[in-house]
Amino acid sequence: MTATVGVAGLGHWGPNLARNFAELADLTWLCDTDLAKSEVGSRYPQARWTDSFDEMLEDAELDAVIVATPVPTHFELARRALAAGKHVLVEKPPAMRGREMDELVALADERDLVLMPGHLLLYHPGVQMLKEMIGAGELGDVLCIYGNRQNLGIIRSNENALWSLGVHDLSVILYLLDEEPEQAVALGRDFLTEGVEDVVFCYLRFPSGKIAHMHLSWLDPHKMRKITVVGTERMVVFDDMELERKVTVYEKAPWRPSDRYGEWQTRTGDIFSPRIASDEPLKLECSEFLRLVSGEGDRPKVAEDGARVVRALDLLTRSLNGS
Ligand SMILES: NC(=O)c1ccc[n+]([C@@H]2O[C@H](COP(=O)([O-])OP(=O)(O)OC[C@H]3O[C@@H](n4cnc5c(N)ncnc54)[C@H](O)[C@@H]3O)[C@@H](O)[C@H]2O)c1
Repeated sequence: MTATVGVAGLGHWGPNLARNFAELADLTWLCDTDLAKSEVGSRYPQARWTDSFDEMLEDAELDAVIVATPVPTHFELARRALAAGKHVLVEKPPAMRGREMDELVALADERDLVLMPGHLLLYHPGVQMLKEMIGAGELGDVLCIYGNRQNLGIIRSNENALWSLGVHDLSVILYLLDEEPEQAVALGRDFLTEGVEDVVFCYLRFPSGKIAHMHLSWLDPHKMRKITVVGTERMVVFDDMELERKVTVYEKAPWRPSDRYGEWQTRTGDIFSPRIASDEPLKLECSEFLRLVSGEGDRPKVAEDGARVVRALDLLTRSLNGS
């Protein structure tokens, strides 16, 4: 049976979600506290418009709610939707504190509802390819991963670079390694707006000994959206700025210790870019949400993966604040 879906928050991002759910499911509600956004409704005459989130939740026929409102509202709206018995897809991050996220996970679990964070990059066919390569052992043992997310702008004054940019890379790093960091260190500076770090460097260490790093900045000459994975057999780069060569595999690796002074010799071979499917990541994300709503897939794992990201952000924030 086709799920009925309501989208809350129709600013910049929400209309993309509404477009996909109108195509993939039965879009029955659109909600925004700003009446000026009601023009989005004219594209979907089948959907009812409201400026009241609670009015939408009162509809017993509504299966699922999509939360695409500003970050500080996510926890409260997701909590209310779950309490009303609705499946929830909530934009990243679903909460700003680990304990709030734990509350959402417990509520979803108790009611057997979907709680899916909008970690768009996890549905990117390029990131999926990295995950498959790691899973198949093609990189050997993964030693370290690092993310670069830098540009000049968009300069934000309410969210720092860690929360605004880091959530993307962190979700990918934790997904690829399937581990939770035991150590998280963040250092940064608030150059333009007091208390809002524009440049943040993060270091993560995992129980397996693997390590990760993230360079997050909106004060940078390079526009970079890149994840690099270093393995003992191969190295691979996912570069979201590239149009065609999103994934590049390097046949480069440490090889063997030489006879002299314990130095290591390295091995260098081909460098190639496999073809990546051109499917829209957001459509794949929305389809996965509907699959979970229909009862397929692993609901608790999806919610718990979201909680891991929030817990790691929480740890990094405490380190950044020097506590
Ligand atoms: N996954 C991605 O790649 C991606 C990209 C952009 C934005 N986002 C996320 O989407 C969310 C929204 O971002 P945006 O750029 O569209 O913000 P925005 O400020 O443009 O839009 C937010 C909308 O939510 C509405 N709103 C606020 N409180 C509400 C409430 N209680 N009920 C209903 N509507 C309410 C506002 O009136 C506004 O129209 C953020 O969480 C952001 O992180 C995700």
